[in-house]
Amino acid sequence: MPSHANTLAYSLGGLTAFSLLILIATGLTLGQFYDPDPAAANTSTRHIVEGVYLGRFVRGVHFWAAEAMYVLAIVHLLRIFLTGSYKRPREANWLVGVAMFALTFSALFTGTVLKWDQEGFEALGHNLEIARLLGGLGFWFNTSFSPALPLLVRLYVAHVSLIPGLILVLLVLHALLVKRHKISPPPDNPDETGEPLAPFTHHLRRVGALGLVLLGGLGAAAVLFPPGVGPTPVEGIEVTRPPWMYWWMFTLENWIGLSGILWGGGVLFVLLVAVPFIDRRPERHWRKRPVAMAVAALVVIAIIVLTVLEAVTTPAEHLAGM
Ligand code: HEM
Repeated sequence: MPSHANTLAYSLGGLTAFSLLILIATGLTLGQFYDPDPAAANTSTRHIVEGVYLGRFVRGVHFWAAEAMYVLAIVHLLRIFLTGSYKRPREANWLVGVAMFALTFSALFTGTVLKWDQEGFEALGHNLEIARLLGGLGFWFNTSFSPALPLLVRLYVAHVSLIPGLILVLLVLHALLVKRHKISPPPDNPDETGEPLAPFTHHLRRVGALGLVLLGGLGAAAVLFPPGVGPTPVEGIEVTRPPWMYWWMFTLENWIGLSGILWGGGVLFVLLVAVPFIDRRPERHWRKRPVAMAVAALVVIAIIVLTVLEAVTTPAEHLAGM
């Protein structure tokens, strides 16, 4: 591998994968004690925190690893964008990345619901309303899809098998495509002139070392800032603020109603999918791509401003019947 592959910027995908490994290990542990029956879910989560040896710590690492995976995937995406690494021949791998990103978001969402406190319950309320807006497309969230099983049980199955399983399959494809196309050269040295080569194991060791630093940070965060779990939810009230990654969508919801979440998420997803099809010029250096840089900056600034707006305003109530 060329030496630039060992820089932090080109190791972000590896670190995202490392967070996924931490999530799988801690998730498997939590799965030994969590009960997805709606009557027991909240109590079993609190039992993990209060009654299981090291349960609070393992849950904390799982929670912070999820935040880390989300943030690292975004920074990895931004690196790919900045270095134009989505351009020919890597368009397909960008799309595989977008799909993994959407799945990571789904994993975060289903994870929020599982603890079955007020926050999780209201998250599910929003999800059900959005499924209703989607009409036939939202059929999976309808209780009539599988009347014998509570929706929480199906979301649990999605969280522990369907979503991580799909992410793992796509990750193998992602890695095979990176191997096939080789890691993209630095835009300011496209021929990799003068770059020494080192074996792949050297890169793995480097990502492993960075991963252990990440694990240390997650362990410290789990001890210093353990994630909370509220009491059993109360139906008919809408009082919680969602986790920060949804805030930008909730500002849109405050402005135009529940469909704002659908529009915001949908437009961002379509934009991401469209990137390699719209921007087909071969230039990869950011200085030679002023339009792409301006559009990306606009999107990032819009998301940050919408996020801050949700943080400083009192959220309105939107769920039907609340
Ligand atoms: C969500 C979990 C993801 C994981 C675990 C992951 C993992 C990786 C790894 C290990 C690499 C090779 C090293 C590196 O560049 O860091 C890579 C490269 C790549 N990833 Fe991802 N990735 C993820 C998400 C994404 C996303 C969201 C996108 C874009 C939308 C993306 C697009 C790409 C592309 C185009 C490459 C080739 C980069 C190059 O050759 O310079 N990935 N990914």
